[in-house]
Amino acid sequence: MKYPKEYLDEIKTRLKVSNVVSKYVQLKKRGKEFVGLSPFKNEKTPSFTVNDDKGFFHCFSTSEHGNIFDFLMKTQNLKFSEAVKTLALQAGMRPYTFSKADEDREKAWKEYTGIYSEYVNFFHNELLNNPDFKNSLDYLKNRKLTLDTIKNFKLGYVKKDLNLFNSLEKKFGKKSVKECGIFYFDEKKNIYVDRFRDRIIFPINTISSLPIAIGGRITQKNSFYAKYINSPETQFFKKGNNLYNIDRARKLSNKLDQIFLVEGYMDVIGLNNHGVENCVASLGTALTERQISILNQFFNEIVICFDGDESGYKAAVRAAENSIKELKPEKQISFLFLPNGEDPDTFISKNGKETFIKYYETNKIAIHEFLFENLRKQTINSPTSLAIFEKKLRYISSCIKDQYIKKYILDFFLGKISALTPNLSKGKQFAIKHIASLSSTKQIFNETSSITKEELQEFSILYLIINNFNFFKKNVSILDGMDFITIEGGNIFLKLLELLKFKDEVNTNRLPIETSKLVKINKFASVKHISKNIQRDENKLKEIFNEMKKDLKNLFLEKRISQLESVFSKNMDENTFNEIKELKKLQNNN
Ligand code: GTP
Ligand code: MN
Repeated sequence: MKYPKEYLDEIKTRLKVSNVVSKYVQLKKRGKEFVGLSPFKNEKTPSFTVNDDKGFFHCFSTSEHGNIFDFLMKTQNLKFSEAVKTLALQAGMRPYTFSKADEDREKAWKEYTGIYSEYVNFFHNELLNNPDFKNSLDYLKNRKLTLDTIKNFKLGYVKKDLNLFNSLEKKFGKKSVKECGIFYFDEKKNIYVDRFRDRIIFPINTISSLPIAIGGRITQKNSFYAKYINSPETQFFKKGNNLYNIDRARKLSNKLDQIFLVEGYMDVIGLNNHGVENCVASLGTALTERQISILNQFFNEIVICFDGDESGYKAAVRAAENSIKELKPEKQISFLFLPNGEDPDTFISKNGKETFIKYYETNKIAIHEFLFENLRKQTINSPTSLAIFEKKLRYISSCIKDQYIKKYILDFFLGKISALTPNLSKGKQFAIKHIASLSSTKQIFNETSSITKEELQEFSILYLIINNFNFFKKNVSILDGMDFITIEGGNIFLKLLELLKFKDEVNTNRLPIETSKLVKINKFASVKHISKNIQRDENKLKEIFNEMKKDLKNLFLEKRISQLESVFSKNMDENTFNEIKELKKLQNNN
């Protein structure tokens, strides 16, 4: 049973890690940390550290790492609940008693997943082993599924006359079986009917591989029954919170950056059958926020690959409009449109894995480009149509939650519009003009995602200097004591400094700095919109510059301290420790 987070946090707030650990390991204070001999290994020099601020212990010789609960579980061989009880007592708290509601829910959950597991296993085994199921197995084999694929996905077939209601009821109780969604009540006949009878079934699992719902497909063309049906939503199954195959796909996230999001069960299975295992399917609903955040947790790029037909295209537009709101730095969402009439399953079956991957590499389109192209197709070259076009694009960018992404996507849209309307953009129609010349737009987004916060800060400072050259020439001392973090930023800064100090006349349109670097500065300086308004006010400029200088210094110190801390936790060297102390003093004074 799950303890509420607040209860566990309360224990952690009351007990320092060093208090808990020192009952078992003799600790010595070293700066902010404690050190001692590892409880996980026989050793003579201490490699075990405890950091109360961070709430963690770390053992450098064995890589054991964790919080107070982990410590007791690992060193005293306790179960999690036992560790919680012991520590709650030590913290002077009452042992947690689960409420009746907690217990009921836990019991219902166990029964629910128990029912689904039993049901899924039963029909999977029958499909594999019972000769009566041969036709259904043949159906899957005709679709070229290998036995391994059938086993990996635990596909089953529910025989028409094989109703498990009674046997499940005996084991799990009537209430749970009634509520699990597998059966519905036929009032005329007064019996519980299996809604998946006569269908191939696809178990839908939680992220930890417990079955919680089912999809079912008929095997014969039939206009009377729906081709696919799903379990209804229940207390434990909400479509928008789940993704088909997420439990298997997520295991690949340490090897692969992308996850393919497709429409159907058979698309996931077909892709797997040909070796593309990083794929999931949404469950017949529009893509939800929750689903995106689950995928973002594991993968850097979501590739939405719906069927190559009109309904697939429409679904893609909807998915794009919903998911662009959730776009985050260092994450990408792309779209892949298959040739007309193909779905991922048919495409990969015909062409194989390599062609599929090549197709992905050459045809994927970033979410903002897709949205732009989609609206552009509906726009004609008339003032009203263009106005609606711009308005819609502005609306789309305004919905983006992340401030950086919002800015760059708007930049991108406005730049593309002004490229489309060259007469207009000669005037002041659009706030941002320079981006129009950057035709390598496909890269913009990828680049933005890979820019670090240090670079953003440095680009802003360099931008200010370049665009206010005369001001900095007069006030060159304001540049003393600048600490650039990146080599690239530092080099550009040194060149500028030399010009400011030693050259009387400088043409800022012809700086001796690589164009690609200037373009980058111009593109990523987050300060450029503010700076337009302050150029004539020197005091304001000075104030903003000093503020930015201070922020950069902080970033510099933060980075250096964390480097040294990791060195220190390995070498426990007095000098390193003193250096950290000095830097922290500076940090406090800054
Ligand atoms: P195959 O025809 O077996 O290759 O599957 P498919 O994935 O090509 O099917 P399709 O593109 O028709 O449907 C994609 C997904 O939409 C399915 O996996 C289902 O989740 C859902 N779906 C399709 N048809 C129906 C239906 O009739 N009812 C419901 N509720 N969902 C459906
Ligand atoms: Mn299909």
